[in-house]
Amino acid sequence: MKISGVDLLDLKKEYGTPLYIFDASHIKRNIDGYLNNFKSNQFETEVLFASKAFNVKEMIRILIEKGMSLDCVSKGELYTALKVGFDPKKVYYHGNNKSREEIEYIISNGVGTIVCDNLQELELIDVIANELNKDVNVMFRMNVGVDAHTHKFIITAHVDSKFGVLHDSEDYKKIREVLAKSKHIKFVGFHSHIGSQIFDLNAFKSAAERLVGYCKDFDYPLVLNLGGGYGVHYTNDDKPIPFDIVSKTLIKTVEDEINKQNIKIKKLAIEPGRSIVAEAGYTLYTVGFTKKTPNKEYYFIDGGMTDNIRPALYQAKYDATIVGKENEKKDHIVTIAGKCCESGDLIIEGIALPKAESGDLLLTYTTGAYGYSMSSNYNKALTPAVVFVEDGKPKLAVRRMTYDELIEREL
Ligand SMILES: Cc1ncc(COP(=O)(O)O)c(C=O)c1O
Repeated sequence: MKISGVDLLDLKKEYGTPLYIFDASHIKRNIDGYLNNFKSNQFETEVLFASKAFNVKEMIRILIEKGMSLDCVSKGELYTALKVGFDPKKVYYHGNNKSREEIEYIISNGVGTIVCDNLQELELIDVIANELNKDVNVMFRMNVGVDAHTHKFIITAHVDSKFGVLHDSEDYKKIREVLAKSKHIKFVGFHSHIGSQIFDLNAFKSAAERLVGYCKDFDYPLVLNLGGGYGVHYTNDDKPIPFDIVSKTLIKTVEDEINKQNIKIKKLAIEPGRSIVAEAGYTLYTVGFTKKTPNKEYYFIDGGMTDNIRPALYQAKYDATIVGKENEKKDHIVTIAGKCCESGDLIIEGIALPKAESGDLLLTYTTGAYGYSMSSNYNKALTPAVVFVEDGKPKLAVRRMTYDELIEREL
């Protein structure tokens, strides 16, 4: 079996398993899917990659090549991007609890826009901007109160969410007072992100309508950022909406809404993460032992929750295949279990696969988002390597961690 012309057996030989594999041309097609369709003749548009989904230097290089903008939510994400020459002006910096050190770093490095989460943060940004005598663009993350139908841990806009500010709150009134007095803060617009792995575009429509309404509080055209969250195909239960339809629907919703409410906006932005990288990513494992219990059959793999925490964290579902046995009868209903010392370390439950032998390779699909970026060294597992493949050629993007690196910070 090959991905982008590269044989998986060769990848196993060269880089070992577990191995994260990214099809670079697939990532580029996905980016183009947004860039070519997220356009309006009534306002400027901007597409950011939410780098929390997958932030490594090689990915950032692709974003630079494509002219994308970037969403960072930590100093580490921003640091990685700046190291490979990403233009800081194209960065939107998020986070609900930015530290003083972080804010100083963001402002000193000329980050384009800070997406401010709360009143206290705004006050701190104001103090630091004055100290550094630097102007900063600030948008506000609003809690638009839209309930998207997704897992409760990845919904972010219910009224008690930890993210953002409610428009009809005391804090919002005070925020406007701080903005009115600030010497260095330029308020540029509103942001909302209602959740992740969402298939219902109506939820985005409601969010967009509300953000447009908030623009009435300011007498100049603002930037609106609708966040990310567009669903992808993990299993056949998922029916993702194509990039062109998502893009055009969001644009039309906002165009209709600004015309209805008689408001001008400067720019509309979106920040997809998952939908750009998820389906372009795969994880390759080696099957070790297999086991039958009274009610189950297990295939044990050489990775698990350390390279893919999503099934344990929010019951995420995946699809998989046994490499080289794609056409064999799938007559075993099995659970794919990792090697961590946790009963919950199950990557897939109840999948139909052919009989696996020890040494077979198992490939899981759609692991490109929040796999590597949420990986851990639990049980002192080594972080796997990441390889990009394109036009028949592999390119190592992250080499496998070594045991020395695993303990190198320990004194
Ligand atoms: C503020 C913000 N923007 C964008 C995203 C990206 O979401 P997704 O990867 O679902 O597109 C997230 C993810 O949680 C987020 O919190």
